[in-house]
Amino acid sequence: MIRDHFNKELRELMSDDEWLIVREDYNPDQNLAYESLFGLANGRMGNRAAFAEGGNKKTLPANYIHGVFDKSEAFMRELANTPNWLELKMYFLREPFGIEDNQELNDFISVLDIKKGILFRSYTLTTQSGRKTKIEKLKFLSRSNSYLGAVRTYITPLNYGGLFEFENRIDGTVTNFADFPRFRVKHLNTLEINDLEGKGAFLKSETRDLGLQIGTAAAVEVKNLKGEDRLKSKQFRAFGEIACEFFDLELAENETVVIDKLAAVCTERDQEDVYQACLKNIEEFKEKGLERELAEHLEVYKKMWSQADLILEGDKKMQQALRYNIFQLMSTPSPDDNQTNVGAKLLHGEEYGGHAFWDTELFVLPFFNWTFPEIAENLVEYRYNLLDKAKENARENGYQGAKYPWESADTGEEECPAWTIEPDGTCYRCYVADYEHHVTAAVTLGMANYVKITGDQKFMNKKGIHILLETARFWVSRFSYNQEHDYYEILKVTGPDEWHEPVDNNAYTNHLAKWNIDFALEKLKEYEDSDPEFYNQLCQELEIDRNLIEEWEKLSEKIYTVGEQGLIEQFEGYFDLECEVINQWDENKMPLMPESLKGKDKNEICILKQADVVMLMFLLPDKFDLETQRINFNYYEKRTLHRSSLSPSIHCMMGLRVGDSRRAYDYLERSAYVDLDNNQGNTREGIHAASAGGTWQSVVLGYCGMKIDQDGTLAFEPSLPDKWERVKYSINWKGEILDIEVTQQDLKVSSREKSVAEDMYYKVNSEK
Ligand code: BGC
Repeated sequence: MIRDHFNKELRELMSDDEWLIVREDYNPDQNLAYESLFGLANGRMGNRAAFAEGGNKKTLPANYIHGVFDKSEAFMRELANTPNWLELKMYFLREPFGIEDNQELNDFISVLDIKKGILFRSYTLTTQSGRKTKIEKLKFLSRSNSYLGAVRTYITPLNYGGLFEFENRIDGTVTNFADFPRFRVKHLNTLEINDLEGKGAFLKSETRDLGLQIGTAAAVEVKNLKGEDRLKSKQFRAFGEIACEFFDLELAENETVVIDKLAAVCTERDQEDVYQACLKNIEEFKEKGLERELAEHLEVYKKMWSQADLILEGDKKMQQALRYNIFQLMSTPSPDDNQTNVGAKLLHGEEYGGHAFWDTELFVLPFFNWTFPEIAENLVEYRYNLLDKAKENARENGYQGAKYPWESADTGEEECPAWTIEPDGTCYRCYVADYEHHVTAAVTLGMANYVKITGDQKFMNKKGIHILLETARFWVSRFSYNQEHDYYEILKVTGPDEWHEPVDNNAYTNHLAKWNIDFALEKLKEYEDSDPEFYNQLCQELEIDRNLIEEWEKLSEKIYTVGEQGLIEQFEGYFDLECEVINQWDENKMPLMPESLKGKDKNEICILKQADVVMLMFLLPDKFDLETQRINFNYYEKRTLHRSSLSPSIHCMMGLRVGDSRRAYDYLERSAYVDLDNNQGNTREGIHAASAGGTWQSVVLGYCGMKIDQDGTLAFEPSLPDKWERVKYSINWKGEILDIEVTQQDLKVSSREKSVAEDMYYKVNSEK
């Protein structure tokens, strides 16, 4: 039993087994993946699951804070690794306790409680001289006060006693890419270290580029199980960039001491004086105590789960994976900050520098639109706030309107580096930002869907319309006229499938660009009819007149979409590439490169990295008849390797839509287990945000078939896999929480607040 490893207090705190993700063996080679997998976030900061006690050789401790970016020697502005407040070092007779410190490790277990957002760990260490010690821990980042984090450590010497020495440390020497010399960057300068007026340890640092200050404070409380103070002495010290509180205590054999490390992390992003903010937070935390803070933290998660839980009866492993993905998704974005977004690897790792991609709008945002509209609003506001920068970005690249960056951090500048280095040191020119422009349409589509789902017309009228019109203006300027064919086309562009770059007339990009322009025209017409005054104002403000509208209309009519029916060529010349369809799959049922194409230039062969035409049909279902969707799914699925974790969930949903569910469940597994099974092999770099969102969509929009019909009503077309007995989830439908229950035979929708007849909400269509 999992809980048998822990003392009574921790046992009672732990949720039921179904909510626990467990690591039972200690293999150092898996440390880095588990540090991401068991990473915690609280809407403000993310903390990897490194071991506070140290001692393990493979580790990348990190604390990332939303909006704390820095470039310095890096290729781009990246989320800076901020001082490590986790460390609590422990010594007996000067010998350190650490999991790999030459001691025998037994009964190791680490448990992530996804219901409560708590990380537990327990193990015993035996020294060469036979001294045996049990160590148990819990860690949480408070959701109730997101400046706070805490670690509780229980220490029990099982067969000896004596004087124990400890260091409560805050380490300001941290770097990004600590285990990768070529990329290693120190993003912060340490400004000040002190004892926080005798209350703990404090370290003030600042980002090197913009001088944004970060305060990190940590205090300890040391008690026995009866709550009696066990501290013998305490003394503050500074070692270079390490703030340290030394303390010691006597422990008798089998006596347990409880050490609470209470931390506060505040930045100048929202605090005038980070020292005062840390001091106040630590004083209040000490006064309140870990338990009360934890109780308030648990209340927040309880409420969040009541909005976002997804119950799947009949499929235990998938149930756990769904909840894991939801847990990490809902833990990351800020509920009250519209200047930050969701990085492609959440707040759990360094890959992609914490940047937002199209992953946000098309994979992550739908989850928030349906469950936490207030968080969704922050995510769309983020893009609105950076609209001016997107306009600058368009101008700099010779276009009009607004062009969103492929990778976005805090300033809205393009953060995708033009040059980068391979692990072997070779520099190469990276063309992604130059050619992969479809993110601009994704931003608009994401925003439009936000408004459609939440009904937030106010956002659309005040802000969304600006995004819509400026992005349309960009696309108009991005097209060029082809005299020979009398159509408008996009040359030199990269679609979602990055293995073919750049190409001419990528069907995905051309269609999405046309959708963006058409939607802008539709909205303008709508405003002109419904509110001429507002319409006139808007036109004046954005310099839009009848001539321009006519120009856009004419252009749109002549856009070369590459195809609307039958098999659509991904881009001009795709059908001429050397081709062999996929005929081998690995042990996880995922496709392998056909033998005859191995080692060939990816630009020259037909194999795709990820969904492209299939992605297009997923996003714009009304533009293509079902037969066209089926033909294209059938064709491109045989040529897609899913080397991006964005691809499987789209194939799951598209397979279900076109009535080809053969592989849908395999795709769902691939997406849902991407980090739990580390099936892309890169979980050490962070948690895959897009596949977490895609997994949720696969179940809710795919298997449960939830959608909004043309007339704006909620509709369902469920088709559950045989083994699923029941799916239950909740949505926020325009301010009202609806509980939805789908079984093999039935579908039930009930409102928590009002008793409105069910059929006012939905239609069920069981015919395929
Ligand atoms: C994918 C992109 C994605 C990015 C970040 C890349 O590997 O090809 O589509 O946006 O990862 O997740």
